[in-house]
Amino acid sequence: MTDSPPARPVSRRGLLTGGALAAGGALAGGAAIAATRTKSGQSPAAADTTPVASVGALVEPFHGARQAGVTTEPQAHAAFVAFTLRAGTDRAALGRMLRLLTDDAARLTQGKPALADTEAELGLLPARLTVTFGFGPALYRAAGVDDRRPASVADLPPFRVDRLQPAWTGGDLLLQICADDPISVAHAQRVLIKDSRPFATVRWVQQGFRRSPGVEPGGHTQRNLFGQLDGTANPRPGVPMDSAVWVPDGPAWLRDSTTLVVRRISMNMETWDLLGRTDRELAVGRRLDTGAPLTGNAEHDEPDFAATGPDGLTVIPDFSHLTRAHVTDDRLKILRRPYNYDGVPTAEGHADSGLVFTSYQADVARQFVPIQRRLADRDLLNEWTTPIGSAVFAIPPGCQPGGWIGEQVLG
Ligand code: HEM
Repeated sequence: MTDSPPARPVSRRGLLTGGALAAGGALAGGAAIAATRTKSGQSPAAADTTPVASVGALVEPFHGARQAGVTTEPQAHAAFVAFTLRAGTDRAALGRMLRLLTDDAARLTQGKPALADTEAELGLLPARLTVTFGFGPALYRAAGVDDRRPASVADLPPFRVDRLQPAWTGGDLLLQICADDPISVAHAQRVLIKDSRPFATVRWVQQGFRRSPGVEPGGHTQRNLFGQLDGTANPRPGVPMDSAVWVPDGPAWLRDSTTLVVRRISMNMETWDLLGRTDRELAVGRRLDTGAPLTGNAEHDEPDFAATGPDGLTVIPDFSHLTRAHVTDDRLKILRRPYNYDGVPTAEGHADSGLVFTSYQADVARQFVPIQRRLADRDLLNEWTTPIGSAVFAIPPGCQPGGWIGEQVLG
């Protein structure tokens, strides 16, 4: 089986040095570049002009102090795979499992097949594949290291709006697999699940999607299936995002870690369809076309919650999602990285649509819970949305080459 992988067709560095990227760092739309690999049966001359799709060859770094897949520009496709540990998966077994899965992830994300990869060709085009490991509360107990569990990594308090189904709730270990291509995601999911079998069973899998690369210029906010721009008020990259997401100090198992809340939220397309445009915009507090707050003109204008209209009422209603969710202190914001899901409609044609809502924050209790409380208490959007799944994970620090994810927690 292939241990040493075939030569990488094109690495991100290769793309950069090959000049395929536009000056600003964005991929030139539809850019095609010459492959460095020959295809069998082709003359070298023909091979030189073989176009390599710009998306497939892109690589996100795997190793580092922090795990990839958190502040990484969201990829188009995601699979969230939650596992239940088998009885007897103790600290030593977890160490073996995580070494194995880390090795798989380190290879696949770099465009190399996993060890003993039965579909090695599928490992060659990562399309910005990232694999992010999350630890649920029970993992710490199973390993006898509950003293290393970040305090806020625990079951969420119940919220009035919750209609949680066991099929989408909880989990001891999470693998968040994201890439700009669904085959890259499916292959990584298959490899990682196969290698985890001796240690864990699959509890749930949630798949989701966003816009594909190239559909819109880079930097665009994605739309959810209600048609809303979703992600506008995320913390800005750099210091604001870092201070919201990452734990800056503490012992090695905590520093550079974060936490992840996964909520499966069903969206009732049938009743949403009954609303007029104005009511839809009042429910959120932003315009559907531009995403601008109802008091502004452009997407990133600051909302003015005090502004009143001729009727004396606030222009942005008190019950709007924007008013209820708004946070001004950067350290208390959450980084939302949601994916849309769209299941099989009922025989009557009623959609099974919603969000795999994910949010990253340094501390669930300090950042996520107060926002979710305010939303559960009074958010008009609750009329059309229902949380049906919920899980909380610690995202432990990253690792360097030769290391493994979880070594600071379990080592
Ligand atoms: C299906 C469910 C949901 C939908 C359709 C939805 C949609 C939206 C939309 C359209 C916006 C405005 C644009 C933006 O800033 O992204 C927004 C903002 C926001 N949402 Fe949600 N959301 C949902 C659930 C949640 C949940 C569960 C939370 C957290 C508990 C949340 C927290 C936020 C926050 C913090 C903002 C930014 C508010 C601000 O500071 O301006 N949302 N959401």
